[in-house]
Amino acid sequence: MTLGEYLTTAADSGAAIGHFNISNLVQLKGILLAVKKAGVPVMIGTSEGEAEFIGLATARRLIDAAKEETGLPIFLNADHFRSFEKVKAAIDAGYDSVLIDCSKMPYQENLEITKRVVKYARSVSASRRTEISVEGELGYLVTESSKIYKETIEIPPESLTKPEEALKFVSETGIDRIAPAVGNLHGISANEPKLDFELIKKLRAVLPADCAMVLHGGSGIPDGQVREAIKLGFNNIHISTEIRVAYVDALRKMFAAAPEETTPYKLYKPVIEAVAAKVSEKLALFGNINKI
Ligand code: G3H
Ligand code: ZN
Repeated sequence: MTLGEYLTTAADSGAAIGHFNISNLVQLKGILLAVKKAGVPVMIGTSEGEAEFIGLATARRLIDAAKEETGLPIFLNADHFRSFEKVKAAIDAGYDSVLIDCSKMPYQENLEITKRVVKYARSVSASRRTEISVEGELGYLVTESSKIYKETIEIPPESLTKPEEALKFVSETGIDRIAPAVGNLHGISANEPKLDFELIKKLRAVLPADCAMVLHGGSGIPDGQVREAIKLGFNNIHISTEIRVAYVDALRKMFAAAPEETTPYKLYKPVIEAVAAKVSEKLALFGNINKI
Protein backbone atom coordinates (compact mmCIF):
# COMPACT_ATOMS: atom_id res chain seq x y z
CA MET A 1 0.00 0.00 0.00
CA THR A 2 1.12 3.55 -0.70
CA LEU A 3 1.38 6.29 1.92
CA GLY A 4 -1.73 7.85 0.39
CA GLU A 5 -3.65 4.59 0.87
CA TYR A 6 -2.52 4.31 4.48
CA LEU A 7 -3.58 7.91 5.11
CA THR A 8 -7.03 7.21 3.65
CA THR A 9 -7.27 4.06 5.78
CA ALA A 10 -6.31 6.08 8.85
CA ALA A 11 -9.01 8.66 8.07
CA ASP A 12 -11.59 5.91 7.57
CA SER A 13 -10.59 4.41 10.93
CA GLY A 14 -10.86 7.76 12.73
CA ALA A 15 -7.12 7.63 13.36
CA ALA A 16 -3.95 9.46 12.35
CA ILE A 17 -0.55 8.28 11.18
CA GLY A 18 2.29 9.49 13.38
CA HIS A 19 5.22 11.40 11.92
CA PHE A 20 8.29 11.50 14.15
CA ASN A 21 11.50 13.40 13.47
CA ILE A 22 14.96 11.93 13.87
CA SER A 23 18.50 13.21 13.71
CA ASN A 24 20.27 10.04 14.79
CA LEU A 25 20.08 6.28 15.25
CA VAL A 26 19.22 6.50 18.95
CA GLN A 27 15.97 8.35 18.23
CA LEU A 28 15.16 5.94 15.41
CA LYS A 29 15.71 2.93 17.69
CA GLY A 30 13.36 4.39 20.30
CA ILE A 31 10.69 5.12 17.71
CA LEU A 32 11.00 1.63 16.19
CA LEU A 33 10.58 -0.04 19.59
CA ALA A 34 7.24 1.74 19.99
CA VAL A 35 6.12 1.23 16.40
CA LYS A 36 6.90 -2.50 16.53
CA LYS A 37 4.80 -2.84 19.65
CA ALA A 38 1.90 -0.92 18.10
CA GLY A 39 2.22 -2.58 14.66
CA VAL A 40 1.19 0.55 12.75
CA PRO A 41 2.46 2.40 9.68
CA VAL A 42 4.61 5.39 10.51
CA MET A 43 6.41 8.32 8.92
CA ILE A 44 9.94 9.21 9.89
CA GLY A 45 10.91 12.78 9.09
CA THR A 46 14.16 14.64 8.73
CA SER A 47 14.15 18.42 8.57
CA GLU A 48 16.79 20.12 6.40
CA GLY A 49 19.11 20.32 9.42
CA GLU A 50 18.45 16.74 10.51
CA ALA A 51 18.95 15.47 6.96
CA GLU A 52 22.20 17.36 6.66
CA PHE A 53 23.42 15.77 9.89
CA ILE A 54 22.45 12.19 8.99
CA GLY A 55 22.97 12.43 5.22
CA LEU A 56 20.14 11.88 2.75
CA ALA A 57 21.51 8.57 1.49
CA THR A 58 22.20 7.31 5.01
CA ALA A 59 18.67 8.22 6.11
CA ARG A 60 17.30 6.24 3.16
CA ARG A 61 19.40 3.20 4.07
CA LEU A 62 18.47 3.41 7.76
CA ILE A 63 14.79 3.36 6.86
CA ASP A 64 15.28 0.47 4.43
CA ALA A 65 16.95 -1.48 7.23
CA ALA A 66 14.16 -0.53 9.64
CA LYS A 67 11.51 -1.74 7.19
CA GLU A 68 13.30 -5.03 6.74
CA GLU A 69 13.77 -5.52 10.46
CA THR A 70 10.21 -4.65 11.50
CA GLY A 71 8.28 -5.76 8.42
CA LEU A 72 6.22 -2.59 8.87
CA PRO A 73 5.36 0.18 6.38
CA ILE A 74 7.72 3.03 7.24
CA PHE A 75 7.83 6.14 5.04
CA LEU A 76 10.71 8.61 4.94
CA ASN A 77 9.73 12.26 4.67
CA ALA A 78 11.78 15.37 3.86
CA ASP A 79 10.19 17.62 6.47
CA HIS A 80 9.91 21.40 5.92
CA PHE A 81 12.36 21.47 3.03
CA ARG A 82 12.32 25.06 1.86
CA SER A 83 13.51 25.07 -1.75
CA PHE A 84 12.94 23.10 -4.94
CA GLU A 85 16.64 22.18 -5.02
CA LYS A 86 16.62 20.69 -1.50
CA VAL A 87 13.42 18.75 -2.21
CA LYS A 88 14.85 17.46 -5.48
CA ALA A 89 17.95 16.19 -3.65
CA ALA A 90 15.72 14.29 -1.19
CA ILE A 91 13.62 12.78 -3.98
CA ASP A 92 16.76 11.83 -5.88
CA ALA A 93 18.08 10.14 -2.72
CA GLY A 94 14.93 8.00 -2.62
CA TYR A 95 12.74 9.75 -0.03
CA ASP A 96 9.14 8.50 -0.11
CA SER A 97 7.61 11.83 0.70
CA VAL A 98 8.40 15.55 0.90
CA LEU A 99 7.01 18.65 2.51
CA ILE A 100 7.84 21.69 0.42
CA ASP A 101 7.44 24.51 2.90
CA CYS A 102 7.31 27.93 1.30
CA SER A 103 4.62 29.04 3.72
CA LYS A 104 6.46 32.21 4.68
CA MET A 105 6.73 33.31 1.04
CA PRO A 106 4.04 35.30 -0.77
CA TYR A 107 1.14 33.10 -1.94
CA GLN A 108 2.09 33.17 -5.62
CA GLU A 109 5.68 32.08 -4.96
CA ASN A 110 4.55 29.31 -2.60
CA LEU A 111 2.13 28.16 -5.33
CA GLU A 112 4.73 28.17 -8.12
CA ILE A 113 7.44 26.31 -6.15
CA THR A 114 4.96 23.76 -4.79
CA LYS A 115 3.63 23.14 -8.32
CA ARG A 116 7.18 22.59 -9.57
CA VAL A 117 7.82 20.06 -6.77
CA VAL A 118 4.61 18.16 -7.57
CA LYS A 119 5.56 18.03 -11.25
CA TYR A 120 9.02 16.69 -10.44
CA ALA A 121 7.72 14.18 -7.87
CA ARG A 122 5.14 12.87 -10.37
CA SER A 123 7.73 12.40 -13.11
CA VAL A 124 10.08 10.50 -10.77
CA SER A 125 7.15 8.47 -9.39
CA ALA A 126 6.24 7.39 -12.91
CA SER A 127 9.77 6.37 -13.83
CA ARG A 128 10.29 4.47 -10.56
CA ARG A 129 6.76 3.06 -10.37
CA THR A 130 6.43 4.28 -6.83
CA GLU A 131 4.37 7.08 -5.42
CA ILE A 132 6.19 10.03 -3.93
CA SER A 133 3.75 11.86 -1.72
CA VAL A 134 3.93 15.67 -1.71
CA GLU A 135 2.82 17.95 1.10
CA GLY A 136 2.46 21.71 0.83
CA GLU A 137 2.02 24.30 3.55
CA LEU A 138 -0.39 27.23 3.50
CA GLY A 139 -0.79 29.65 6.34
CA TYR A 140 2.27 29.71 8.56
CA LEU A 141 3.34 28.60 12.03
CA VAL A 142 4.87 31.46 13.99
CA THR A 143 7.34 29.51 16.14
CA GLU A 144 10.13 26.99 15.72
CA SER A 145 10.23 23.30 16.48
CA SER A 146 12.28 22.06 19.45
CA LYS A 147 12.06 25.38 21.32
CA ILE A 148 10.45 25.60 24.74
CA TYR A 149 9.06 29.13 24.95
CA LYS A 150 8.94 30.81 28.34
CA GLU A 151 6.55 33.41 26.97
CA THR A 152 2.93 33.29 25.90
CA ILE A 153 2.58 32.95 22.14
CA GLU A 154 -0.29 34.75 20.45
CA ILE A 155 -1.30 33.51 17.03
CA PRO A 156 -1.90 36.34 14.57
CA PRO A 157 -5.18 35.76 12.68
CA GLU A 158 -3.45 36.50 9.36
CA SER A 159 -1.21 33.45 9.86
CA LEU A 160 -4.20 31.06 9.82
CA THR A 161 -5.14 29.15 6.68
CA LYS A 162 -8.13 30.44 4.74
CA PRO A 163 -10.37 27.58 3.53
CA GLU A 164 -11.13 29.03 0.07
CA GLU A 165 -7.47 29.80 -0.53
CA ALA A 166 -6.55 26.27 0.66
CA LEU A 167 -8.96 24.73 -1.84
CA LYS A 168 -7.45 26.82 -4.64
CA PHE A 169 -3.93 25.91 -3.53
CA VAL A 170 -4.67 22.17 -3.39
CA SER A 171 -6.47 22.18 -6.75
CA GLU A 172 -3.81 24.20 -8.55
CA THR A 173 -0.77 22.40 -7.12
CA GLY A 174 -2.16 18.86 -6.97
CA ILE A 175 -0.52 18.17 -3.60
CA ASP A 176 -1.41 15.00 -1.68
CA ARG A 177 -1.27 16.50 1.80
CA ILE A 178 -1.71 19.97 3.22
CA ALA A 179 -0.23 21.45 6.40
CA PRO A 180 -2.58 24.21 7.51
CA ALA A 181 -2.21 26.70 10.36
CA VAL A 182 -5.19 26.21 12.68
CA GLY A 183 -3.88 27.49 16.00
CA ASN A 184 -1.03 24.98 16.20
CA LEU A 185 2.57 25.94 16.97
CA HIS A 186 5.99 24.42 16.49
CA GLY A 187 7.75 23.78 19.81
CA ILE A 188 6.07 24.21 23.18
CA SER A 189 4.68 27.56 24.32
CA ALA A 190 4.04 28.76 27.89
CA ASN A 191 0.32 28.99 27.14
CA GLU A 192 -1.78 26.02 26.10
CA PRO A 193 -2.42 26.02 22.33
CA LYS A 194 -6.05 26.37 21.29
CA LEU A 195 -6.87 24.72 18.02
CA ASP A 196 -9.56 26.45 15.97
CA PHE A 197 -12.03 23.59 15.54
CA GLU A 198 -14.45 25.62 13.39
CA LEU A 199 -11.62 26.33 10.97
CA ILE A 200 -10.60 22.65 10.93
CA LYS A 201 -14.19 21.66 10.11
CA LYS A 202 -14.37 24.21 7.29
CA LEU A 203 -11.06 23.07 5.83
CA ARG A 204 -12.06 19.42 5.88
CA ALA A 205 -15.39 20.28 4.29
CA VAL A 206 -13.93 22.22 1.35
CA LEU A 207 -10.80 20.16 0.62
CA PRO A 208 -10.90 17.07 -1.61
CA ALA A 209 -11.35 13.90 0.46
CA ASP A 210 -8.10 12.41 -0.85
CA CYS A 211 -6.04 15.38 0.35
CA ALA A 212 -4.63 14.45 3.75
CA MET A 213 -4.62 17.06 6.50
CA VAL A 214 -1.39 17.19 8.48
CA LEU A 215 -1.22 18.60 11.98
CA HIS A 216 2.21 20.09 12.63
CA GLY A 217 3.53 21.11 16.01
CA GLY A 218 1.93 18.16 17.76
CA SER A 219 4.08 18.66 20.86
CA GLY A 220 2.33 20.43 23.70
CA ILE A 221 -1.21 20.12 22.30
CA PRO A 222 -3.42 18.64 25.04
CA ASP A 223 -4.62 15.10 24.30
CA GLY A 224 -8.30 16.10 24.20
CA GLN A 225 -7.60 18.65 21.47
CA VAL A 226 -5.57 16.12 19.47
CA ARG A 227 -8.46 13.60 19.67
CA GLU A 228 -10.92 16.25 18.48
CA ALA A 229 -8.59 17.31 15.66
CA ILE A 230 -8.41 13.69 14.45
CA LYS A 231 -12.18 13.37 14.69
CA LEU A 232 -12.58 16.49 12.56
CA GLY A 233 -10.22 15.34 9.84
CA PHE A 234 -6.48 15.43 10.62
CA ASN A 235 -5.06 12.05 9.59
CA ASN A 236 -1.35 12.74 10.01
CA ILE A 237 0.35 14.27 13.07
CA HIS A 238 3.92 15.52 13.49
CA ILE A 239 5.81 15.26 16.77
CA SER A 240 9.37 16.36 17.34
CA THR A 241 9.98 18.56 20.40
CA GLU A 242 8.48 16.15 22.94
CA ILE A 243 10.75 13.38 21.64
CA ARG A 244 13.79 15.63 21.91
CA VAL A 245 12.85 16.62 25.45
CA ALA A 246 12.39 12.96 26.48
CA TYR A 247 15.77 12.21 24.90
CA VAL A 248 17.82 14.94 26.59
CA ASP A 249 16.08 14.51 29.97
CA ALA A 250 16.94 10.80 30.01
CA LEU A 251 20.50 11.48 28.86
CA ARG A 252 21.05 14.14 31.54
CA LYS A 253 19.73 11.74 34.19
CA MET A 254 22.02 9.00 32.92
CA PHE A 255 25.08 11.28 32.99
CA ALA A 256 24.22 12.27 36.56
CA ALA A 257 23.60 8.68 37.67
CA ALA A 258 26.68 7.18 35.98
CA PRO A 259 29.32 9.90 35.57
CA GLU A 260 32.05 7.30 34.97
CA GLU A 261 30.20 5.47 32.19
CA THR A 262 31.97 5.67 28.82
CA THR A 263 30.07 3.06 26.79
CA PRO A 264 27.66 4.82 24.44
CA TYR A 265 25.21 1.92 24.10
CA LYS A 266 24.91 1.77 27.89
CA LEU A 267 24.46 5.53 28.20
CA TYR A 268 21.81 5.50 25.49
CA LYS A 269 19.78 2.54 26.77
CA PRO A 270 17.49 4.66 28.99
CA VAL A 271 17.34 7.30 26.26
CA ILE A 272 15.97 4.77 23.76
CA GLU A 273 13.46 3.62 26.37
CA ALA A 274 12.37 7.21 27.10
CA VAL A 275 11.87 7.96 23.39
CA ALA A 276 9.94 4.68 22.98
CA ALA A 277 7.67 5.53 25.92
CA LYS A 278 6.88 8.96 24.48
CA VAL A 279 6.17 7.56 21.01
CA SER A 280 3.98 4.76 22.45
CA GLU A 281 1.96 7.37 24.31
CA LYS A 282 1.45 9.34 21.07
CA LEU A 283 0.59 6.27 18.98
CA ALA A 284 -2.07 5.28 21.51
CA LEU A 285 -3.48 8.80 21.26
CA PHE A 286 -3.49 8.75 17.43
CA GLY A 287 -5.72 5.65 17.41
CA ASN A 288 -5.80 2.32 15.66
CA ILE A 289 -5.36 2.02 11.96
CA ASN A 290 -7.47 -0.96 10.98
CA LYS A 291 -5.34 -2.36 8.20
CA ILE A 292 -1.59 -2.42 7.66
O1 G3H B 1 7.46 19.00 11.39
C1 G3H B 1 7.69 18.85 12.59
C2 G3H B 1 6.66 19.05 13.58
O2 G3H B 1 5.67 19.90 13.15
C3 G3H B 1 7.07 19.03 14.98
O3 G3H B 1 6.46 19.98 15.82
O4 G3H B 1 8.25 20.04 17.51
O5 G3H B 1 6.05 21.04 17.94
O6 G3H B 1 6.29 18.57 17.84
P1 G3H B 1 6.78 19.90 17.37
ZN1 ZN C 1 6.26 20.90 11.29
